[in-house]
Amino acid sequence: MTSSPSVAVIVVAAGSGTRLGLGRPKAFVEVGGRSILSRSLDGIRGMAERVAVVVVAPGELLAETASHLGPVSAFASASPSASDAVVVVAGGATRQQSVAAGLAALPEGVDVVLVHDAARAFTPTSVFERVIAAVRESGGGVIPGLPVTDTVKGVDADGVVLETVDRSRLTAVQTPQGFPRALLEDAYARAAADATDDAGLVRDAGHPVTVVPGDALSFKITTAADLERADDLLRRTRMPALPRTGLGVDAHAFDPAAELWLAGLHWPGEAGLAGHSDGDVVAHAICDALLGAAGLGDLGSRFGTSDPSLAGAHGEVFLTRTRALLEEAGFTIGNVSVQLIGNRPRFAPRKAEADALLTTLLAAPVSVSATTTDGLGFPGRGEGLTALATALIY
Ligand code: CTP
Ligand code: MG
Repeated sequence: MTSSPSVAVIVVAAGSGTRLGLGRPKAFVEVGGRSILSRSLDGIRGMAERVAVVVVAPGELLAETASHLGPVSAFASASPSASDAVVVVAGGATRQQSVAAGLAALPEGVDVVLVHDAARAFTPTSVFERVIAAVRESGGGVIPGLPVTDTVKGVDADGVVLETVDRSRLTAVQTPQGFPRALLEDAYARAAADATDDAGLVRDAGHPVTVVPGDALSFKITTAADLERADDLLRRTRMPALPRTGLGVDAHAFDPAAELWLAGLHWPGEAGLAGHSDGDVVAHAICDALLGAAGLGDLGSRFGTSDPSLAGAHGEVFLTRTRALLEEAGFTIGNVSVQLIGNRPRFAPRKAEADALLTTLLAAPVSVSATTTDGLGFPGRGEGLTALATALIY
């Protein structure tokens, strides 16, 4: 049997958004491609404890509200017999009336109630959990708040400064505000006039209210500037980390007694390259480019020039190990471009074969090209080969 949830969150979303001035109820305004209402449920969905959710929406938008709730399976069914995991009810002319409408729709079995402004679209899950825990522990009302950082002055009706208010005694209050259900129902039953928040009513009814830390992300979207802040916040979190580039160069002299291994391929009949391993300049330049991009050192420092297990090792070994080092460090290879510089072997006939092998080994596009140096320098004189590689990783 699924027991009914003991916590409910009333999300008030019935305001008109006059100060935002977009001619549309604020909770239905989109930020970063999703409505404020839809985003405001993310923090609730993240909680380990399954809670009941009551959304209070503008009466004329009740039908549309369902499409803004996202995956509701994360929420507890309002009651074991109800089929809908989220209850949607129509709000009133004031916030207080909207909360009252939500209270009237609370499922049975709930004994802790949180009231949350949909307009605080980014409130982290931790704040909801902190408030619930403190309500259970204290048995009183609990509100999240942040210290006031501005200097605050008391002024009279003509704007004349009367005093500086002691900032250390002030807290800027946010939502979700949490209460034992009986306390909040009692406060609403007795409410004479409009209070600015639920905790105000609860205090007026003589019940204790304490403050727990809020969160800067819990700011309320009220004005156009707030909406811009929300947009900036989302753009920053969506921006991928900057990619990183690396450069690698290698050169080896010809050794006519050795077999040629180049770009991971065996080249029968061609003069080989001198070196502790097989002297594959293409593979080595690629490894240096990748390690350099990742800030993981270079081929020499990573694999050593005297490791007996690497005597005669082919490019495949170095490339596979380098890829593993990058992956362990959390990097993904974007692509690699490498150029071989030398007179022979004639590379073009086997370029496709080399590209395919290296691309498979690194699981990222690798493209190899080749050029000569018009007879200049050691490659031009046919003394050896050199290769230059660049890599992009992220
Ligand atoms: N709210 C509500 N019912 C109302 C008024 C407000 O449910 N009659 C909700 C809003 O949807 C919002 C929260 O209470 O999530 C905080 O109110 P506020 O930021 O003032 O929103 P609006 O009233 O919509 O904005 P404005 O005051 O600029 O019109
Ligand atoms: Mg308002």
